[in-house]
Amino acid sequence: MSTKVMGVGIIGYGGIGSLHHKKWLKTLPQFKLCGVWDIKPERLEIAEQEGIHAYKSEADLLADKEIELVIIATPNDVHLPIAINAMNAGKHVVCEKPVAMSLDELKEMIACSRKNKVIFTVDQNRRWDKDFRMVKTAIENGYLGKVYNIESRVYGSRGIPGDWRKYKAHGGGMVLDWGVHLIDQAIIIAGNRKLLSLYTTLDYAHGGECDDGFSVCFKFEDDLTYLCEVRTNNYIQMPRWYVAGKDGTLVIKDWSCDGEIVRKVKEDAEAKPIAASSGMTKTMAPRTEATIEHLPLPDVDVTVADFFLNVRAAIRGEEKQNITAEQLLASTEIMEAMFRSAETNSVITEFEFQK
Ligand SMILES: NC(=O)c1ccc[n+]([C@@H]2O[C@H](COP(=O)([O-])OP(=O)(O)OC[C@H]3O[C@@H](n4cnc5c(N)ncnc54)[C@H](O)[C@@H]3O)[C@@H](O)[C@H]2O)c1
Repeated sequence: MSTKVMGVGIIGYGGIGSLHHKKWLKTLPQFKLCGVWDIKPERLEIAEQEGIHAYKSEADLLADKEIELVIIATPNDVHLPIAINAMNAGKHVVCEKPVAMSLDELKEMIACSRKNKVIFTVDQNRRWDKDFRMVKTAIENGYLGKVYNIESRVYGSRGIPGDWRKYKAHGGGMVLDWGVHLIDQAIIIAGNRKLLSLYTTLDYAHGGECDDGFSVCFKFEDDLTYLCEVRTNNYIQMPRWYVAGKDGTLVIKDWSCDGEIVRKVKEDAEAKPIAASSGMTKTMAPRTEATIEHLPLPDVDVTVADFFLNVRAAIRGEEKQNITAEQLLASTEIMEAMFRSAETNSVITEFEFQK
């Protein structure tokens, strides 16, 4: 395994650009931050106050031979030209999500990485979220039996943040901002199952030009229905995850991973009808405690530092990259299909990435 420290340049030293430095690069001896470039002089001043070298221009950063890897952390509409410039300069690239404004843009980026024989990948950091890994582990280990329904939700109540995310021209809206994470997770959990259909509705609850929430229902092969929802007008929290299998149900309430698995241990032949509003029901009567068991969520040990270490290992030819071009093509096409579904109020059933 190579021990050579990898020189990194960050383009776009705003919210996530500075977090990449403070949270990960600074803590990983395998990387060295050579410097940053941002079009806002005040962001360069902040970088310098933090002891970070500020380049004079994007070209100045790309000309630095010490830099092997460029992290692009600008608004979405300028990912493409920066990625192309960086790869044509021979740099490997980690681009922020959503990688591109369209499938055509993404294809151009992938073609450029192949032409220049450089690694091109995207910071789909939420693949390293603990809650996501717990769901994945519980399903893979068969704790719930055959899984039929997955619901994955993130909810806020303050609309879209007041910067570029509100505007279409910059790639704003919640499908591109949060949808890209939830869809990426859905693709991983669905695994080899074919995507049969999707149906989407978009919310404009706060009256802006971009979707401030959405709901998408995926139907995968093998009877898996998978709902992703993002809302920014929500004042009562729903669980982050709800997963229903034949033999068990999993709930994760929030990012602190408060939740449990409840499993059937025997049939509940004695179930008695309960009063249900104006009627009676046996079907919907809760189970008796003697017929179920409560299990803790599986223990998982994950850190998003592994994403950066994998990128480095992929660049050195030691590992395959975790976030692949095929996965990015799938999630980007799915987002385009979601917009089409919402605009036409129709179910989409054809997907190029599966042909
Ligand atoms: N992976 C995640 O969890 C995560 C979290 C937040 C943001 N993001 C993504 O990161 C990117 C940036 O988001 P943010 O919240 O940091 O935005 P931000 O507005 O806080 O920062 C963006 C920075 O890019 C700079 N910039 C704009 N155009 C530029 C250009 N052409 N060249 C150089 N610098 C330029 C801006 O001046 C600003 O400082 C977006 O793609 C966003 O979706 C990802």
